[in-house]
Amino acid sequence: MKSLKDKIVSEGIVLSDTVLKVDSFLNHQMDPQLMKEMGEEFARRFAEDKITKVLTIESSGIAPALMTALTLNVPLVFARKQKSLTLREDLIVERVHSFTKEVTNDVTVSRKYLSPDDNVLIIDDFLAVGEAAQGLARITEQVGAKVAGIGIVIEKSFQTGRHTLIEAGYRVESLARIASLHDSSVQFIEE
Ligand code: G4P
Ligand code: NA
Ligand code: NA
Repeated sequence: MKSLKDKIVSEGIVLSDTVLKVDSFLNHQMDPQLMKEMGEEFARRFAEDKITKVLTIESSGIAPALMTALTLNVPLVFARKQKSLTLREDLIVERVHSFTKEVTNDVTVSRKYLSPDDNVLIIDDFLAVGEAAQGLARITEQVGAKVAGIGIVIEKSFQTGRHTLIEAGYRVESLARIASLHDSSVQFIEE
C-alpha cells in the first residue's frame, strides 16, 4: 500500500536492524486518514470472505482493526493482555510471549464475544515472529470459530512470523512488507 510505505519512509525511525519506530502515525500519535485507508484496504482484500468479526489485541492493533470492522460492517473484538490470571470460566485464554518486549502475557477474550459460527479476520499492527497472531488464532479455534485470514499493517519479512503463519495454513495479507532495516534504511519487498 503506497501511502503507508511513503509514511514509513518519511516518518519511520529505524532503531536497530530489527526494530522500526512508527510512533508518529501508528503506535503513539495516530493518523486517522491513513488508518481509514488501511481499514478499507483490508476490507477490500477480504471482501469475498464473509467475515463476521474482526479480532485484534490491545493496544496498537485496535485502530486499524476498528477501521476494518467499520468498513466490513462487523463488530471488532480486542483481546486483553494480563500479566497473570485468576481463571474465569467465561474467558478464553492463551499465553503469548513477546520476543521484542520480553514479556509473557495471558491474552483473553470473553466467550460472549466469539461464537463457533464466527468467521474471523485477525488484524495486528506488526508481524515479527508471529506469537501474537498465533495466540489470536488459537483463541478463535478454541471456541470452534474459523480464522479467515490475518491482516498485518507492517510485516517484518526478515523475521519468522510470516513463514510460521503460512506454514500453519493461514492466509496473511500485509500492507507493507519490510525486507530489511539494515544500515538504518527501510527496504520493502516490492509486490
Ligand atoms: P509477534 O507478535 O510477531 O511475535 O512479535 P513480538 O512478540 O516480538 O511483538 C511484541 C510487541 O512488539 C507487539 O506490540 C508488536 O506490535 C511490537 N513490535 C514488534 N516489532 C516491532 C517493531 O519493529 N516496531 C514496533 N514499533 N513495534 C514492534 P505489543 O506488545 O502488542 O504492544 P502494543 O503496542 O500493541 O500495545
Ligand atoms: Na500489536
Ligand atoms: Na505494537
